[in-house]
Amino acid sequence: MGKDVIVACDFSSKEQVMSFLDRFDGCVRKPFVKIGMELFYAEGPGIVRDIKSRGHKIFLDLKLHDIPNTVKKAMSVLSGLDVDMCNLHAAGTKAMMTAALEGLTRPDGTRPILIAVTMLTSTDQRAMEEDLLIKEDIADVVMHYARNAKECGLDGVVCSPLEAQKVHAACGNEFLTVTPGVRFADSDKGDQKRVMTPEEAKKIGSDYIVVGRPITAAADPVAAYERCVREFVG
Ligand code: C5P
Repeated sequence: MGKDVIVACDFSSKEQVMSFLDRFDGCVRKPFVKIGMELFYAEGPGIVRDIKSRGHKIFLDLKLHDIPNTVKKAMSVLSGLDVDMCNLHAAGTKAMMTAALEGLTRPDGTRPILIAVTMLTSTDQRAMEEDLLIKEDIADVVMHYARNAKECGLDGVVCSPLEAQKVHAACGNEFLTVTPGVRFADSDKGDQKRVMTPEEAKKIGSDYIVVGRPITAAADPVAAYERCVREFVG
């Protein structure tokens, strides 16, 4: 699986996302597109088919977390939608992750890439201890969840670029790290606190970078995407 730049299309309507993607008409390299909850819940599964039919790969970022049987059935539906990558919460347990993989696997043995979310970056040590009653160090929890995902046969985790090396050291270089929090050296950080440039993310071994506003809010999104690809993929 090659390195790639995934563009977080955090738009709220089909109209907005399509007018953004129109800019890439005629480009040889079509961006790998991340569709999040907002767009998916607003537009339904048709949005996946519409974007796929324009030649884009899709990372459907719905972060499933439910009882194993429900997740298995939901994953089977996502697999039928022909997404290229999807995800779930590792906190849903190993039983849930194993069931998810079963649901995702098509009769011919193929399946989309399945990635686990470890601990959300919006959850800090205090919230984990006080709200979730998990007393361990958050970095250990993240690595434990990553190892659980690996043991269940998942393909990788979403993590900060700063954690990618540790994840690879614990789970192997084949285990994918999908990393948001990427900014160009000369661009605004926005609400992201700990960021890396595409070039730095490449050096520390990220497999996929997820980039939103530095591309979607750029004056020239195609040029920003191509710069990201140049810096990250080479
Ligand atoms: O616009 P920006 O580049 O910050 O977008 C990053 C994307 O990655 C968003 O879709 C955001 O929800 C997602 N993400 C993140 N941090 C995480 C997990 C996902 O920024 N820990």
